[in-house]
Amino acid sequence: MQPIARDEFRKRGPWVTRFDIEGETLGGQYHAATDQRLKQFFDRFPHPARVLELGCLEGGHSVEIARAADHVTAIDSRVDNIERARFIASFFGRSNVDFILADLERFPLTSLGTFDVIFNVGLLYHLPEPWRLVDELAKIGKSMFLWTHTADPSATIVEREGFMGQVYKEGGTRDPLSGMSATSFWPTPDSLERMLALAGFKYIDIVDVDATHPHGPAVTLVCHQNPPARRSSL
Ligand SMILES: C[S@@+](CC[C@H](N)C(=O)[O-])C[C@H]1O[C@@H](n2cnc3c(N)ncnc32)[C@H](O)[C@@H]1O
Repeated sequence: MQPIARDEFRKRGPWVTRFDIEGETLGGQYHAATDQRLKQFFDRFPHPARVLELGCLEGGHSVEIARAADHVTAIDSRVDNIERARFIASFFGRSNVDFILADLERFPLTSLGTFDVIFNVGLLYHLPEPWRLVDELAKIGKSMFLWTHTADPSATIVEREGFMGQVYKEGGTRDPLSGMSATSFWPTPDSLERMLALAGFKYIDIVDVDATHPHGPAVTLVCHQNPPARRSSL
């Protein structure tokens, strides 16, 4: 890596995401490029055309998705995250990614057109009213890959807009990984499925359930508005 590029990378730190660049390891602890959720996504969507990515952090997933997709639109609410993401996409020569600085609690997603698949990893559980976003997403995407936390069975469960779940205290706007509101709502697994189905994502394929994730129970799923095409084994 050219010293000037290394300096530019460091100038933008501290980074959460770790990048392996030309034999050097730079950045933080989180190696997004080898995240198993990317593999699970590509197993189901090997060459997506238009992808919408929510809560893109520093673009670690975005640049990997952009290798296989025609185009990626990636959204995050923090200006530092978006600036780092733009830097890393430009460094890797990914000209097919657009990064948008926006708060998904209020951004009018329909202004972006439609997408073949939504990559919704690590974002939904940061929202106080996740059902609102899910309803908006159903207007612009027929399929979604979702990784999110769900309510801890030992937590106090409350009802919001007909959904059951846990109120979670967010880390504040200065935390690069947190939500934008003081609290978020983590639905129970049943309420999450109902939330998706009510919005139109009726065909739900549970990919993985991680009941012992250190931050709370988590689920990986793929959901579709139309019956998914059968995958050929050939
Ligand atoms: C836990 S990180 C997940 C990052 C990445 N998707 C991943 O899984 O590696 C959550 C990301 O969502 C962003 N975020 C949180 N609340 C948001 C909101 N209301 N609108 C847009 N982005 C948000 C944060 O800035 C952060 O980058």
